[in-house]
Amino acid sequence: MNIEAQARAILEWHQLVGVDETIGSETIDWFAQVDAAPAAPQPAPAAQPLPSAPQPLPPSNDQSVKTAVELAAAASSVEDLRAALETFDGCGLKKTATNLVFVDGNPDARVLFIGEGPGAEEDRQGVPFVGPSGQLLDKMLASIGLDRGDALISNTVFWRPPGNRTPTPQETATCMPFVERLIELVDPEVLVPLGGPAAKSLLGETQGIGRLRGRWFSFETPRMSHPVPATPMFHPAYLLRTPIQKRAAWNDLRLIREKLAEVGR
Ligand code: URA
Repeated sequence: MNIEAQARAILEWHQLVGVDETIGSETIDWFAQVDAAPAAPQPAPAAQPLPSAPQPLPPSNDQSVKTAVELAAAASSVEDLRAALETFDGCGLKKTATNLVFVDGNPDARVLFIGEGPGAEEDRQGVPFVGPSGQLLDKMLASIGLDRGDALISNTVFWRPPGNRTPTPQETATCMPFVERLIELVDPEVLVPLGGPAAKSLLGETQGIGRLRGRWFSFETPRMSHPVPATPMFHPAYLLRTPIQKRAAWNDLRLIREKLAEVGR
């Protein structure tokens, strides 16, 4: 096999096993590091000169959440909140993402949809729900007479998890103060968590999305003067894989339409 074919074979193998991100230019051979670990205590190594610019330690998760709470609380508009997120380095996902993916749509909307986290296309464009799930979401909105001018769309984390994995509880916790502030600032009439992870982190529920969808919950933070009615739905990505559930999704969309008509401004 020539070198080019060999390189292509390695690349194809990486894609097959789900490696779709390069997160560092140096490869780390963890096995070699384990092998090289000393079996018995070794004499202390000679003191090394300190590097001229000491590397800052990454912030602890508690500290990151505290910073997130402070930054989010200081924002008095959705645009302020975006600016605060641009400066926030407390979520590890930022290191591997191409772009911040914050909101799309209308900040004065009556309905706010919150998905799980950006995918590859969202990461490239810096806009939520622009990939295949987003195209289905647009059709779902259209089915109840809405478009992105009538809704605001965001996620529970604002940077793409590498390889589209589920965000860790730490990653979700560091973004949550911004999500909560977003809901406070938009003050929607209806909040729609899309998919189980968004429903669980926003509503504090432990049941699966199959049991949560089609029901009303309320969302409130201590800073809000009134609770927001919230109804979780199946995530559009799930509906693409499981079209039989589109019937349930249609019922859920009707619930949203009815609620909007009921609370009509
Ligand atoms: N899935 C999500 O949960 N959010 C996006 O923005 C895109 C896909």
